[in-house]
Amino acid sequence: MAKASTVEAPAETATDTLEVQDSRTERSFNISITDGAIRASDLKQIRTDDEDDPGLLSYDPAFLNTAACRSAITYIDGDKGILRYRGYPIEQLAEGSTFLEVAWLLRHGELPNQGQYDQFVHDITYHTYVHENMRKFLEGFRYDAHPMAMLNSSVAALATFYPTSRNIFDERERTISIIRLLAKVPTIAAFCYCHVKGLPFIYPDNDLSYVENFLSMVARMSEPKYEANPAFVRALEVLFILHADHEQNCSTSAVRAVGSSHVDPFSAMSAGIAALFGPLHGGANEQVLRMIAEIENVKNIPQFIEGVKAGKGKLMGFGHRVYKSYDPRAKIVKALADEVFEVVGVDKDLEIALELERIALSDEYFISRKLYPNVDFYTGLIYRSMAFPMEFFTVLFAIARTAGWLAQWEEMLLDKEQKIARPRQIYTGPEERPYKSRIDHRHTAGPRTQKDALRQ
Ligand code: ACO
Repeated sequence: MAKASTVEAPAETATDTLEVQDSRTERSFNISITDGAIRASDLKQIRTDDEDDPGLLSYDPAFLNTAACRSAITYIDGDKGILRYRGYPIEQLAEGSTFLEVAWLLRHGELPNQGQYDQFVHDITYHTYVHENMRKFLEGFRYDAHPMAMLNSSVAALATFYPTSRNIFDERERTISIIRLLAKVPTIAAFCYCHVKGLPFIYPDNDLSYVENFLSMVARMSEPKYEANPAFVRALEVLFILHADHEQNCSTSAVRAVGSSHVDPFSAMSAGIAALFGPLHGGANEQVLRMIAEIENVKNIPQFIEGVKAGKGKLMGFGHRVYKSYDPRAKIVKALADEVFEVVGVDKDLEIALELERIALSDEYFISRKLYPNVDFYTGLIYRSMAFPMEFFTVLFAIARTAGWLAQWEEMLLDKEQKIARPRQIYTGPEERPYKSRIDHRHTAGPRTQKDALRQ
């Protein structure tokens, strides 16, 4: 069995130091700099003479400038627009690899050889079916349930089927959980789609590739064998590769934080799905199409842009915490969109999207804030031309990101420096004060029935 990769311990030979002087005490400190970072815990030694002073904290809401881990998985240079998985440029992986090859790479640190790849594909294919109770569980959702909310709770529910997955320090258990998640998330996602559409659930076809099988579960009707459009298969394979990991983003940080409590991987993954659901994160691809629908016509774009600049909402699909130049994934997605549109015809909203991009990239507001299109700007257009409903776009993102979440979760578990995630705070509430109730406890109503409440 191939081992999961681990992060290397930090070099203990740091020679660079940061000299700081505390103006409160006039004392000076030398703080080691390793890999361009100081350890926030080294700041604790900087304290006043007050014996209750716990030491200096670093304050960094939203982690704007704090590294929470060492990681060997994904490298991003946001200024240069570089994205690499385990050293391999994203452009080359998108061009030549498969999603499952990338999923292996993310976990193990090296590309699989033929034997490892064949075994991995076999294992994933073998585990695509879900327990029949999962199907009943999904049927319990309302007809208009958002598929991300369904996916989130269903992945959490998987933990009930695999109680031994809680043995997270047993490598065999981790491996089988990782295979189960990669194999079953597309099945659950497709079931969510069918539920919302009122279509019969289509079971996996294990003769098909990972992407073809997913498309089959989504689109197959009465035909005995589903044959996917090769342009769609290629597009989805590339989009899955592009979305597979993105270092310490919101959802990955959620997976790491929840996983750091040593909960089972299904629960940790569901935290990632919840984070991805948000419109500032993976939910943005859905919001891009809603925004384009609101703009309605190219002639309305200048007015819309003025509204954004005046603070009336954001230009969805633009901006990124890390990329301060063109998101390298967005470039690939734009080219991919052209390939798909060649097959299915130009999407009616493409004209609006292109014009939005053109105007934004030449407007001082967006230039000065380094706001470029991110990966979500064009993905929605591709997904829609493949006939996926808007609500389903983020689910497609989640299928792909499962590979990255799992690799990051395992890296966190095996990292000897990691402990339960527990940030500090700067308390801004009242000083101690005596309790003096402001309600009359004698007249507090007891529990009421629904009927009583309605009668009022
Ligand atoms: N439209 C208009 N203005 C924007 C946008 C935008 N999309 N994004 C940022 N800005 C402005 C902010 O208002 C702020 O302006 P100010 O300095 O005058 O106050 C400035 O640019 C800096 O923005 P921040 O919010 O500080 O940037 P942050 O790094 O916190 O946010 C984020 C990044 C959340 C991605 C943001 O750019 C955004 O909301 N974009 C739209 C949603 C989106 O597309 N999300 C997908 C991200 S990719 C992904 O998760 C897969």
